[in-house]
Amino acid sequence: MGASTLTITDNRTGKRYDIPIEHGSIRATDLSQIKTGADDGGIVSYDPALANTASCKSKISYIDGDKGILRYRGYPIEELAEKSTYLETAYLIVKGELPTTSHLGMWQHNIKMHTMVHENLKAFMQGFRYDAHPMGMLVGTVGALSTFYPEARHVMDLESRRVQTRRLIGKIPTIAAYAYRHGRGLPWVYPDNDLSYTGNFLSMLFRMTELKYRPDPVLEHALEVLFILHADHEQNCSTTAARMVGSALADPYSVVAAAAAALSGPRHGGANEEVVHMLREIGSIDHIPELIKHVKAGERRLMGFGHRVYKNYDPRAKIIKEVAHQVFSVTGKSPLIDIALELEKIALDDDYFVKRKLYPNVDFYSGIIYDAMGFPVEMFPVLFAIPRTAGWMAQWAEMVLDEEQRIARPKQLYVGYDERPYLPLDRRRDIGAQETEVHGPL
Ligand SMILES: CC(C)(COP(=O)(O)OP(=O)(O)OC[C@H]1O[C@@H](n2cnc3c(N)ncnc32)[C@H](O)[C@@H]1OP(=O)(O)O)[C@@H](O)C(=O)NCCC(=O)NCCS
Repeated sequence: MGASTLTITDNRTGKRYDIPIEHGSIRATDLSQIKTGADDGGIVSYDPALANTASCKSKISYIDGDKGILRYRGYPIEELAEKSTYLETAYLIVKGELPTTSHLGMWQHNIKMHTMVHENLKAFMQGFRYDAHPMGMLVGTVGALSTFYPEARHVMDLESRRVQTRRLIGKIPTIAAYAYRHGRGLPWVYPDNDLSYTGNFLSMLFRMTELKYRPDPVLEHALEVLFILHADHEQNCSTTAARMVGSALADPYSVVAAAAAALSGPRHGGANEEVVHMLREIGSIDHIPELIKHVKAGERRLMGFGHRVYKNYDPRAKIIKEVAHQVFSVTGKSPLIDIALELEKIALDDDYFVKRKLYPNVDFYSGIIYDAMGFPVEMFPVLFAIPRTAGWMAQWAEMVLDEEQRIARPKQLYVGYDERPYLPLDRRRDIGAQETEVHGPL
């Protein structure tokens, strides 16, 4: 094998540059030495949406999209989903290793110590309108948490980082459940720390007048698996938002609020909602061929199919499909599942989807499960944010401790006006955008 360098010839000047290659990458800053003269700032790499830019080194999750592999800290997602609990997985993600029995016990205890929220935070949440979107409530409330824990701004302090991590993982199901019950006008249920992480969450969501809520073990297990599958996923949009905001040394509550805000977008945390809408719209198996026709004509997309990274069956979708059947044994079969299974069968046999490597992704089945469990679609991104909090915190801490990281500050390619003379107000009559112009960006 030859030298680990990339040789670039600048045809503008005829100069040659040898740029080191490390981990299959070149440093974008190495390009800045390629200049035409002293006034030239040097070459920059242009990468809208950061599609081919590694912005950090990370040891947390690993994806091989062609092979359909997802691992947390080296452990395959399939094994974690089968053998671990969510809190065990969260420990692995946050700390880097699977816990021993005693460490797991301490970790569970430490998280449970933080499941309650300050009564003023409850009052804050009660201030939302009766029909507030639960994801908006979650984003706002997590941001508000920073005012309750001002010491959280000491982000370089290990003990502070640890406490805030436990607080966030402990409190986020409570905030999510309060947001859910707020929309229903139901009294809010305090945490029950005798229950598991997901059992307690189910209790805070669904408990009515019973003295002791006993979660259905199948649904409790289904949520554990769904939470494990959603705990981390490399440098996706919300994780990148967490790292960006964190790079300014903002406190971790602001960081998680920013990440959750990114997740609230339909391109990120909203795809499973779209799947449920699509399956309801199809309504019956007979209507599938018609839909496929429209999809192949490029008129619409098959929601829950395709992935930016996975060009093979999303490993999480395989696991979720199994869980769906277990859930239906309790909730009764969802009318959507037959349509989903038939749609998947037809699509996987069809050249259009095969050629483009379009397989079901995690969202194809998760929405059907949540729907069968009685969650309204607005809760879907909230259910995603709860487990992803462990991933966001781990990624944030990794970034804070990474000596190569500084405040994130991308470059731009300026394509606007060159300097021009200022126009006094009375000379601007027919120039420039009108306030009411329909084509302006805002
Ligand atoms: C996830 C997604 C945005 C990834 O997109 P991407 O990797 O950028 O892929 P592209 O948008 O470049 O699409 C590549 C080709 O596949 C087609 N395609 C991609 N996803 C498709 C889908 N769900 N249904 C039908 N066609 C699809 C595109 O039309 C394009 O076809 P073309 O080459 O003939 O133009 C995309 O697959 C999608 O929109 N899926 C549906 C929404 C969804 O489930 N999102 C959740 C992701 S976890």
